[in-house]
Parts: sequence; C-alpha cells; structure tokens
Amino acid sequence: SPLADVRVLVTAGPTYEAIDPVRFIGNHSSGKMGFALADELAALGADVTLIAGPTAQLSKQKSIKRTDVVSAAQMLDACLQHFDKARACIMCAAVADYTPAVVADQKIKKQDDELTIALIKTTDILKTLGAQKRTGQILVGFALETENEVQYAIDKLKRKNLDLIVLNSLNDSGAGFKSDTNKVTLIDRTLKATVYDLKSKTEVAKDICAKVVELIKK
Ligand code: C5P
Repeated sequence: SPLADVRVLVTAGPTYEAIDPVRFIGNHSSGKMGFALADELAALGADVTLIAGPTAQLSKQKSIKRTDVVSAAQMLDACLQHFDKARACIMCAAVADYTPAVVADQKIKKQDDELTIALIKTTDILKTLGAQKRTGQILVGFALETENEVQYAIDKLKRKNLDLIVLNSLNDSGAGFKSDTNKVTLIDRTLKATVYDLKSKTEVAKDICAKVVELIKK
C-alpha cells in the first residue's frame, strides 16, 4: 500500500448557494471524479476524508470518512478543519464562485419582469489552502478551461501555490461534468504537462493518484 496511513483530504461535487428557503444557485458537477479519487486513494491505503457537496454518489471504500456540506462557506470550514493534518489535498469540487449577498427569509414572490439578485464572491478554498501550505504538503487543484487551456492552468497552479493541476478541457468530447469518462492533462511545478487519453474516471483517478504518490515520495 503506497499510501498506508497517509492522510488525504478530497473535495467533490458541486456547492449549492441558497437564494431563499426553496431556491439555490448550483452547477452540474456530479461528484463522480472526486468520489473516484477518494476510492482510489483509499484503495492505495490512504486515510481519506471526503468533503462532499450535494451529490448522489456513494463511496465504494468503507474506510472513507465522509462529511456532507451544502455551500461553499461550509466546504471551506470543513476543509480548514482537516487541512493541518492532511499530507495531501485534492480539491475536485466545483465550488461556487459567487453566492447571494443575502438569503431571503421567505420564498421570494414573483415580481415584475426582471429580478436582480446581488451576488458576492465566495472564498477560494484552494487558494486559501495554498497560502497556508507547509513544506511537505501536496496540494492538487482542477481547472476546467475552454480556451488557452494550458496557459490558464499554469497561471492557476502558480497563483494558488499548487503542486499539481489537473486540466480538463471542455473541447474534448467525453470529458467533463456528468460523463463517466474524462480526458486530462497533468501539470506539475516543473510545468511539465502530461497529456492522457480519454478514459473512465476510475482510470483517470489512478493516473492522478500515481502522480500524487510520486510527489509524496519526492
Ligand atoms: O479558479 P477556478 O475556480 O477555475 O479553480 C478551480 C479549482 O479551484 C478547483 O480545484 C476547485 O476545487 C477550486 N476552487 C476552490 N474554491 C473556490 C473555487 C474553486 O477550492 N471558491
């Protein structure tokens, strides 16, 4: 077991940002990639904490410790609770970038033709962890880009102080949100980009975990 007793933190799924008691702003993340990662890490012997946004996914590995959250703010709190003890963190969740400035107490009634909801920026969890990272901790982020993919991913790797970034391109068919397959490019701090074939998210998780094992051993 290459990751025996290594503590790893994984985030998965979307976040939901409440507008009022019945409505939210969300996204199409299924959680499949993050759950596949958590399963593979646990299979390699890691002590996995999985912070999951609203998702129908279930873990295969019984050893995984799962915490369910709803909003970006809750996901941040949960990550901060586990970050210090984690040797590696893989932030796979599709966290909302904006959240309603106020949550209405009551259901918002139908109004005139237009309705404006003021949004404020959420805290970037990955960037927050990157700023707190200690020597030896490995931080992995994801990037979904539609243009200048590799350059944007490299910028993100640097800006967020990551050790590895997993680039998914929306230009590749069979990659992305709800599909069972993904096509990724892994970029590490040496800025070496490795392009992988389209494969199942389980197989992609194996590739990412192999790279994480390599980074931990370094
Ligand atoms: O900057 P962008 O949102 O494209 O970066 C994507 C990466 O950042 C993903 O790894 C995602 O989990 C993470 N992220 C985060 N907190 C946010 C937004 C993104 O951890 N508020």
